[in-house]
Amino acid sequence: MKGGYDHFMQKEIHEQPSALVETMRGRIALEVEDCSEGDGSECTLERQGSLKLLDSLDLLKEDGGGAEPLWRGATPRVKLGGLEPHAENILRSRRLIFVACGTSYHACLAARQVVEELTRVPVALELASDLLDRQAPLYRDDTCFFVSQSGETADTLNALQYAKRRGSLCVGITNTVGSSISRETACGVHVNAGVEIGVASTKAYTCQILVIVMIALKLSEDSISKGKRRNEIMRDLLRLPSMMRRVLREEGVIKNLARELAQETSLLAFGRGYNYATALELALKVKELSYMHSEGILAGELKHGPLALIDETMPAVVVATNDALREKMWSTIQQLLARKGRLVLLVSKGDDDILNYFNGEENDGRARIITVDTVCDCLQPILNIVPFQLLSYHLTVLRGFNVDQPRNLAKSVTVE
Ligand code: UD1
Ligand code: BG6
Repeated sequence: MKGGYDHFMQKEIHEQPSALVETMRGRIALEVEDCSEGDGSECTLERQGSLKLLDSLDLLKEDGGGAEPLWRGATPRVKLGGLEPHAENILRSRRLIFVACGTSYHACLAARQVVEELTRVPVALELASDLLDRQAPLYRDDTCFFVSQSGETADTLNALQYAKRRGSLCVGITNTVGSSISRETACGVHVNAGVEIGVASTKAYTCQILVIVMIALKLSEDSISKGKRRNEIMRDLLRLPSMMRRVLREEGVIKNLARELAQETSLLAFGRGYNYATALELALKVKELSYMHSEGILAGELKHGPLALIDETMPAVVVATNDALREKMWSTIQQLLARKGRLVLLVSKGDDDILNYFNGEENDGRARIITVDTVCDCLQPILNIVPFQLLSYHLTVLRGFNVDQPRNLAKSVTVE
């Protein structure tokens, strides 16, 4: 049942490349131009009507250089059967509100920016319990997305009933077909990541982010001004599975890092922008599985308190992959170095400024460095969390705790 892995969590981490393919299967379409005129040299797809759905084989073939022939002469589109009849209504909403708990909430946080950017509709995030505690105002012209791996989490379900009573359009994003959230929502998208058994969510998380990005692409498909950006994201969607496979090949490096950190009592994680969610999710995984205290911190808040915790004994992870905030993250790294912090950095392959700095004589050994491929900024959190899923997994095994069944926790929390 564990397919040769020691634990379900490890298996599920390694299933992510194929889970991403399953999430995209039948949902990425190439609209082919009519090839019947001219010499057909621009049309590299078989002539089979105007829309060709990529199957999983096509998706697996896509890898950097291999992408071009498939795309030439075709316009990429996202197809989400459940959402299509409601897309116009959703776009007319006054607000898009994402409601979830735990790791599912972090998935919403990771994808929030791209939904705002592509739809231009204000996006709010709500922890389901907090929305209910506040009896927050919801209106008929709001669309609420309920994001849940199990589709059975009590707080999220209660928030759904609450939103329904207020007349909001309720949309589900769930990994479990036939679950309560799937049944009770007006429409939605199944994540299709496959069954997840480990209590700590891994493949559902990365696939939830992917689904929300795909929803943003779907909702913005008529926007001419967003066309270039959409195409950029679409191309990189197809590169994700192979990039994810490359991250997973580095498991040995992560295991060594886990050995270095296994006796620590605390671990801080800094990120911002798309990767604030990565820092929060890393910290959640480390604390819920290895029982090591861990805190995810918005790097922009460093000087408003957390900096006081930094000294030569405090391990601090910094997510500094290449995006518009890379310079700000470099400044965070400098601040932490100035206080002699013990750094673990996640950086983009080829970021020579950072890599050379720490390979130089002066700073050699001052940071442990993990590298990942660069992908479109809004998809980067999907890759970036993987080394930290592996880190929390190996920390837990080394510390001798139950990875798949952490104490006091349940896979599906069906009571408030
Ligand atoms: C659907 C089929 C899939 C088939 C594909 C072919 C199902 C479950 N899915 O996938 O097997 O290959 O058509 O076109 O039969 N929904 C909710 N709330 C949720 C999630 C989903 O109401 O939280 C609804 C959707 O609005 C939709 C239905 O459930 O009406 C199926 O959703 P989804 O599986 O995402 O749709 P497709 O990807 O089109
Ligand atoms: C539980 C799980 O706390 O519920 C977490 O242990 C999960 O992994 C959270 O993120 C929310 O669950 P769901 O099913 O609504 O995504």
